[in-house]
Amino acid sequence: MSAVDSPRVVNIADLRLLAERRLPRAVFDYIDGGADAERTLRENCRVFDDVILRPRNAVAIPQCDLSVTVLGHRLELPFLLAPVGSSRMFYPRGEEAAARAAGAAGTAYILSTLSGCKLEDVRAASSGPVWYQLYLVGGRDVASATIARARAAGYSALAVTIDTAVSGLRERDARNGTKELLGSSLTAKLPFVSQFLARPRWLVGFLSDGGLMSFPNVVLPGQGPMPYADVAAALEQSTVAWADLRWIREAWNGPIVIKGVLTGDDARRAVDAGAEAIVVSNHGGRQLDGVSATLRALPEIVGAANSRTEVLLDGGIRRGGDIVKALCLGARAVLCGRAYAYGLGAGGEAGVTRAIQILRADLVRTLKLLGCASVGALDRSYVELPPAWLTDTPRGTPMDAR
Ligand SMILES: Cc1cc2nc3c(=O)[nH]c(=O)nc-3n(C[C@H](O)[C@H](O)[C@H](O)COP(=O)(O)O)c2cc1C
Repeated sequence: MSAVDSPRVVNIADLRLLAERRLPRAVFDYIDGGADAERTLRENCRVFDDVILRPRNAVAIPQCDLSVTVLGHRLELPFLLAPVGSSRMFYPRGEEAAARAAGAAGTAYILSTLSGCKLEDVRAASSGPVWYQLYLVGGRDVASATIARARAAGYSALAVTIDTAVSGLRERDARNGTKELLGSSLTAKLPFVSQFLARPRWLVGFLSDGGLMSFPNVVLPGQGPMPYADVAAALEQSTVAWADLRWIREAWNGPIVIKGVLTGDDARRAVDAGAEAIVVSNHGGRQLDGVSATLRALPEIVGAANSRTEVLLDGGIRRGGDIVKALCLGARAVLCGRAYAYGLGAGGEAGVTRAIQILRADLVRTLKLLGCASVGALDRSYVELPPAWLTDTPRGTPMDAR
């Protein structure tokens, strides 16, 4: 029995606990935490409780079809692995491990710009589709060079993240000394190093993997890979604007996914900018705290997109039943972030594979109990929504017209 098998690991929360035990506090909190008071982080998960399932009983379903088509690719599962920066800190060669697990399960992996493995190695590790998530850190020329590399390596879509004008304030990171640990002053680091010594198994793996402190996919001219310490400043200097989509599209010449849409207005802008897909996302509650949970924003966005672009969603997915609810409300598929990142932190590729297995088994069981043979057949008729969700006044309606 491996460390991530049942009965030790029955659900994603169990993987989270194992990750907490294996990882230093600063690394675990980087995965687990959110911005400011973590209101949106909590609400992303809680909001799934508001949606009630309506089963059709006495329906025999010998086989469930979990496949979906996203950007013309058939995926065996209705979820993809979201871009999660610095995954190589969670486990040696973490991005390659996660991509391999995704490919083996027949789904896609999305590689963050801020990752520790070379994009070519990650592409080679997976037998499935791999997308590249773009931040403009380092500026337009640096991003153009990376886009060209991603295209040459065989990435099938470019996900442009638009909710990161500055880094959100992750209070846990500040308390754990993340800034000091990434800086160059030894005396500033000293008060924070004990959390690493308390996790020797992780430390040995990290050091044998090179103790990586730079981003090989952000190559700065004359300097080489961007160091970890420079991330916050680099993000702040490289905000994506809608006008950038024009040169990005020319440089990429393939499908573009806009990640970080939370309103109908931005969905329409993304459609106008020619996005082949959008991701309804608040960055897992890590950016602007106090924005709505993604599931709550989904109906407005599906309405605004009006079938002109594919709508995906992420945020708060911890069970297969959550995925079912998002699909019932009009998402074509979802992205999972922490659900697999906990698995990676708990046990590398085996942990990611276990996370995928848990969500897949949840999906099959939920569909059978719902009396629905395929994820493609899920719709509003399988859920009951709170009355307020149905009577929303469209945004932008003048007060006196309501
Ligand atoms: C540790 C961590 C790092 C992340 N890094 C990135 C990133 O580099 N780029 C990006 O677009 N989103 C990033 N995200 C956001 C995820 O892609 C996704 O939107 C979010 O995790 C979804 O919420 P969930 O974790 O509740 O599933 C990160 C999320 C986490 C948890």
